[in-house]
Amino acid sequence: YDYDVLVVGSANADLTVRVERRPDAGETVLGTDLVESAGGKGANQAAAAARLGGRIALLARVGGDAYGELLLNAQRAAGTDVTHVITDPGARTGTAMIIVGDDGDNSIVVSLGANAALSPQDIAAAHKVIAGAAVVSLQLEIPMETVEATAAAAREAGTRVVLNPSPAPESLAPALLAAADPLVVNEHEARRISGAADGGPADWARALRALGARSVVVTLGGDGAYVLDADGEAAVPGVRVTAVDTTGAGDAFTGALATRLARGESLATAARYAVRVGAAAVTRPGAQPSYPTPDELPGA
Ligand code: RIB
Ligand code: NA
Repeated sequence: YDYDVLVVGSANADLTVRVERRPDAGETVLGTDLVESAGGKGANQAAAAARLGGRIALLARVGGDAYGELLLNAQRAAGTDVTHVITDPGARTGTAMIIVGDDGDNSIVVSLGANAALSPQDIAAAHKVIAGAAVVSLQLEIPMETVEATAAAAREAGTRVVLNPSPAPESLAPALLAAADPLVVNEHEARRISGAADGGPADWARALRALGARSVVVTLGGDGAYVLDADGEAAVPGVRVTAVDTTGAGDAFTGALATRLARGESLATAARYAVRVGAAAVTRPGAQPSYPTPDELPGA
């Protein structure tokens, strides 16, 4: 393989302010100084995977502005191959407005900018890159038709697809769901996509497999993850840490999972490692700035 993991997805500049209390509609509150850092669900997965080692590439679009430079530099520093990142001189780099509360939980509004132009044509032009990767990792901050084209190209080439359907869509095309091996969902995404409002991780995972996903990982924050594939089910316990900022922790989990699957680990073993990576990420502020190297992982 040319790459262990090719991430196809979004790159955003994260503009973060911490607040004691989130504002209600029509309300103004004061926050901390603004922090600008590297984010975006796709770029986050790539950076998390690259920091852990392995050959990682990102296929994405940024604008020809300072934020685009910030994102490219962050990827290079993490060790990602950025040859396939396209710079759009006429577009703005994607931007995420992030509010982090005292509990470490966040509210995010994304302005897609250049991400919205990542097209099926870009994917067609990258068929060799997709075929040359062990795993392709996807999320949903780029046009859905581009995600679907990538999954189709990957399946045709025999490349494994990891899909994190986030932000949670109303529905997923059956062919996309059927390509996911695994589908990586948090509780909210699991409920929404499975259509099962009640129940727990085992129920959602079973429902998602019945809908066509080849395997499923339900991430449970501090409580670890639940894994279901053809080998059976596994409950992966959480790792106890103090959460400072959960932004991008799910992306770190998925990026880590993808690298381990690329090395041939079982889904349950890969998920055990990814839980530790996600736990490390919540102990520090920001998304990419918080991602660990292997020697920084808790709960060995
Ligand atoms: O998942 C976290 C990410 O969501 C942030 O980095 C932000 O850019 C948004 O894409
Ligand atoms: Na973090």
